[in-house]
Amino acid sequence: FTTFTRVKAHFEEYLSQKSRMNKSCLDLSSGRSNSNCSIGMDEGLFEQPEPLASSKAVMEKIVWQRSLQMRSQQQAWQESAEGSRMLEFRRSLPAYKKKEEILSVISRNQVVIISGETGCGKTTQIPQFILESEIESVRGAACNIICTQPRRISAMSVSERVAFERGEKLGESVGYKVRLEGMKGRDTHLLFCTTGILLRRLLADRKLKGVTHVIVDEIHERGMNEDFLLIILKELLLHRPELKLILMSATLDAELFSSYFNGAPTMFIPGFTYHVRTHFLENILEMTGYRLTPYNQIDDYGQEKMWKMNRQVPRKRKSQIASVVEDAIRAADFKDYSPHTQESLSCWNPDCIGFNLIEYILCNICENERPGAVLVFMTGWDDISCLKEKLLTHTVLGDPNRVLLLTCHGSMASSEQRLIFEEPEAGVRKIVLTTNIAETSITINDVVFVLDCGKAKETSYDALNNTPCLLPTWISKVSSQQRRGRAGRVQPGECYHLYPRCVYDAFSEYQLPEILRTPLQSLCLQIKSLRLESISEFLSRALQSPEILAVQNAIEYLKIIGALDEKENLTILGRYLTMLPMEPKLGKMLILGAIFNCLDPILTVVAGLSVRDPFLTPLDKKDLAEAAKSQFCGEYSDHLALVRAYDGWKDAEMDMGGYEYCWKNFLSLQSMKAIDALRREFICLLKDTGLVDSNAASCNAWSSDLNLIRAVIFYGLYPGIGSVVNNEKSFSLKTMEDGQVLLYSNSVNTRETKIPYPWLVFNEKIKVNSVFLRDSTAVSDSVVLLFGGSLLKGDADNHLKMLGGYLEFFMDPSVVEMYQSIRRELDAFIQGK
Ligand code: CDP
Ligand code: MG
Repeated sequence: FTTFTRVKAHFEEYLSQKSRMNKSCLDLSSGRSNSNCSIGMDEGLFEQPEPLASSKAVMEKIVWQRSLQMRSQQQAWQESAEGSRMLEFRRSLPAYKKKEEILSVISRNQVVIISGETGCGKTTQIPQFILESEIESVRGAACNIICTQPRRISAMSVSERVAFERGEKLGESVGYKVRLEGMKGRDTHLLFCTTGILLRRLLADRKLKGVTHVIVDEIHERGMNEDFLLIILKELLLHRPELKLILMSATLDAELFSSYFNGAPTMFIPGFTYHVRTHFLENILEMTGYRLTPYNQIDDYGQEKMWKMNRQVPRKRKSQIASVVEDAIRAADFKDYSPHTQESLSCWNPDCIGFNLIEYILCNICENERPGAVLVFMTGWDDISCLKEKLLTHTVLGDPNRVLLLTCHGSMASSEQRLIFEEPEAGVRKIVLTTNIAETSITINDVVFVLDCGKAKETSYDALNNTPCLLPTWISKVSSQQRRGRAGRVQPGECYHLYPRCVYDAFSEYQLPEILRTPLQSLCLQIKSLRLESISEFLSRALQSPEILAVQNAIEYLKIIGALDEKENLTILGRYLTMLPMEPKLGKMLILGAIFNCLDPILTVVAGLSVRDPFLTPLDKKDLAEAAKSQFCGEYSDHLALVRAYDGWKDAEMDMGGYEYCWKNFLSLQSMKAIDALRREFICLLKDTGLVDSNAASCNAWSSDLNLIRAVIFYGLYPGIGSVVNNEKSFSLKTMEDGQVLLYSNSVNTRETKIPYPWLVFNEKIKVNSVFLRDSTAVSDSVVLLFGGSLLKGDADNHLKMLGGYLEFFMDPSVVEMYQSIRRELDAFIQGK
């Protein structure tokens, strides 16, 4: 026991030593991250009028002169031919018709909430109205307007658009600032930035000195950062009575915000869209000769409505494409789908049919429909890139003379962005594959056709925005309508929803705010990194506070994994975790992988936990698939099976045989590629934290030590742990909280009759009628003793007894060997390797 306590102490010492080495990287309040991750906290968002101005009177004069200059510049632009055309366009926007009213409400109130349909001109016009009215009254150089956007791409594209509308270059009166990038100058008075940037700024400058207006855009999305920002701004408004706050939303749920800000006035800008014809999955399938029919089935749970695919009329295959769709439809397990409840939605998996069906519809549009751009809403970036690859091999869709295939997602380069807005050459159809970013924050003018997969996932690796990885989830009715609306902006349009009507009916009205639907652990870490007061007290002032229990659970969890100390202060591990935008357990596993020099397999494990299960089991080839999977088993670990499969694929890929390898082994090529991409992202993030040198190879000296990898997986997933009870011909599992539990059916451990380890660590628990464990790895006593965190606190004697006894444990030579190897490893680090 003493020895293990010592090893743990070494580990903590290692982290603190690293932290001293990376002081600047960890000290968030100074805002300086390490070299290539500068967020420029030392500089303010706006320049001071004249740093050297000696007296107030001199300063005022400078401001007045500059304001006059701004006014004459704008007048000249508006009188030019191009400028007046632009003004004419702006005047045609619904927001412009309300200009005077908007300005008057803002001038009379500290907080105003403005809602209006996407494209009505909120983002591009309202900040300009304010700037223009200040310029008009010769106060232009004294006002500083910040407009926050939930994503970096919108901050960048909107600022560029607004500068263009004003006949200026970006960085003159209009600028932007996002993490690692920005464009602003001495005369910038309207700044578009991400919500994360403003949060960071508030840390260094609680009063937002010099800022006159804060506009928070897209509040209907109810992102965690926006809700978080509103808590801080609400407090700030009390101390800065002259500061104006404008909230903008694309939906009409303004009342909630109004009552949060003590009955602040709300305004609505009416918009206009053309009719959009809507096709749900059943309508689309009919085109291929299939019908989706419901039938009732009696099963263990009582009567359930199930779905069946029938060939509607036996007819000859119409085309190659029809047969592809047919195969795809068969792969989708319709039997498992039953409508009416939210949970049942999770059984309906559009991913199975998605790609082939999308290809079919796109091809149909290109060959038979009128001109107009197509917008395809996909789940996330990995799906978009895979689909793009698939479409590029298609004879029609991959032909650059007929189709301009573009992608739109949060982290794209600005040159790529511009293409989305441009009109293609005559005869070429623009197809944009997008995440939900094009739902409200980006407007593509010429869209006539929309395809909607019905799910959304935002994977953001922006550490400052600290959004955890989200799994694909169903969108809300409101989102689905927003997506549909994108098709009717310039003329009547068509929308293809890739799910049945009844699935749509089961969608919730609005999406739950992120703060209520995502684990709070990451948010709690962020609150702490901003050096705010007690977590629960802070969150109790949110627009919709999370349950007290959820907050307590999150804090308790963070304490157990060692990210917070007893007084709820960030530990060194906690500080590193705030830099990794993912669930803390995954972040912790990565950090441990780097420290224990077994980074490579751990990268795969963590990436694997963030993507869809790559092991495929087609219904009609179940046996073959099972047989193929067994070559990866043998370690009593789903995580290690994945590592083996990935390594095999990577080797095959080197010899250009990646596709065959996946095909032969029933692996999803898509998932393998997604894992590959995530691994690269993770390495960049780790380099940013300073834990991994530029040469990541040095972190792999121990990458083949399976015991060590098991230990690191355990430490990351702890306290998710169950004990194994081996019986005569089978084994059973227990966890402390749930008693008897079962393994999820795809686990490699379900193939075993005995598990030669006393413990199983798991990634996730799912309660259906029993509790199921998902993704498990068997571990030995020693690992539990070494890394079992607070298990060792409290009644240590009892625990040792539970673990099989202190002496017995030390007599096992393999355990001693493993302990020594970890120990040597730690020592090497502590000696400053
Ligand atoms: O914020 P909201 O959705 O209300 O609209 P907006 O982003 O201010 O856009 C208003 C109009 O400006 C759109 O309908 C587009 O016609 C136009 N716009 C554009 O042409 N190019 C851009 N990059 C952004 C907007
Ligand atoms: Mg907008």
